[in-house]
Amino acid sequence: MTALSKLTLTDFRNHAAFSLNIKSAAVCLFGENGAGKTNILEALSLLGPGRGLRSASLNELVRQGSERGWTVSAVFDDDHQIGIGLDQASRTPKRAIRVDGAAATTNDLAERVRMIWVTPAMDVIFRGGGTERRRFLDRQVMANIPSHGRVSAAYEKSMRERNALLERNYIDPAWADAVENRMAEAGAIIAMNRAMIVRKLQAAVDARPDGYFPKSDLSISGEFEKRAADGASLSDLEEALRDTLAAGRARDRAAGRTLNGPHRSDLDVIHRPSGAAASLASTGQQKALLIGLILANARALSTADEQAPAPLILLDEAAAHLDPSRRAALFDELSSLKGQAWLTGTDATLFDAFRDRAQLVEVPPTGSA
Ligand SMILES: Nc1ncnc2c1ncn2[C@@H]1O[C@H](COP(=O)(O)OP(=O)(O)OP(=O)(O)O)[C@@H](O)[C@H]1O
Ligand SMILES: [Mg+2]
Repeated sequence: MTALSKLTLTDFRNHAAFSLNIKSAAVCLFGENGAGKTNILEALSLLGPGRGLRSASLNELVRQGSERGWTVSAVFDDDHQIGIGLDQASRTPKRAIRVDGAAATTNDLAERVRMIWVTPAMDVIFRGGGTERRRFLDRQVMANIPSHGRVSAAYEKSMRERNALLERNYIDPAWADAVENRMAEAGAIIAMNRAMIVRKLQAAVDARPDGYFPKSDLSISGEFEKRAADGASLSDLEEALRDTLAAGRARDRAAGRTLNGPHRSDLDVIHRPSGAAASLASTGQQKALLIGLILANARALSTADEQAPAPLILLDEAAAHLDPSRRAALFDELSSLKGQAWLTGTDATLFDAFRDRAQLVEVPPTGSA
């Protein structure tokens, strides 16, 4: 996907029917609190693989009071269409996906849509535990390597099998070997992907101009990613992970979970101007670091090979946190990228510095449209 030219939501969150023709590479949604701006970004985020920017369940997304399921559909690259919705026909809620009218899969979405986002909920990623940072990293990887999501799901699945196996009184060694083999296969790819994308992101960070968004120094604390960064081959990684898992059976059994592997890795971020860990930076500095990282990834994605789709960049409430000169720098940078940027804010004047490079769209308060 390079750009959306039309977006239509039905019975999605507070939007009974919302339709927008898009004429620009930047779209700025403005309106009062609760109007449904973030909901629109969330709808867009569901055009890619995964559960979207709020990790909501499919049922939560149905407009309260609606008798039907929700739908989100988008026209992209002028004449292609992606439609997603809650599949009412299946007994368990399921996301129905159609591309150009034909049934499609999450993998089809991953191939077509490269998506990255920043939301206020992500402000805490540098302060909290590793889970959120790892998720953040994996989302950046997924935008670059569509198969990463599928491999991660395979890893998680075999890890659950292994954990269940370790709870038994007798562990069949052949069974454990088979499960750990699958974990090692997927885990090695995960570590390799992460190491590769961190290197790519770092190069994109380094290539960015100095100025409004501070640079960061990135590394992954995780044995297997470190080995990958040091040049280990995929089969080396696989073997190392397989050995680690086999050697850790007794310990993992006592702990009741798998203690070692790429599911425990963390993304370490240093705020380069101060040389200190990002966790020590101020709230505003952390926000600017995060935006800098997303812009670096957007740059990496938009300079990727010609065949790769250009990214959709979703920035929820990013403008409001920035002073006017940083805001202008952000808009300049977004305007220089391939891909389409979607921004939200409560006030149209926040987007003044875009001048004629963006389409301003008012999201009216619920009930008035
Ligand atoms: N399933 C649903 N059905 C109907 N309304 C919903 C549903 N889920 C959320 N909402 C409503 O959507 C509104 C919030 O929308 P959203 O978060 O997009 O607002 P916003 O425009 O981003 O506001 P803010 O400026 O405060 O961020 C709330 O009023 C909420 O009650
Ligand atoms: Mg919002």
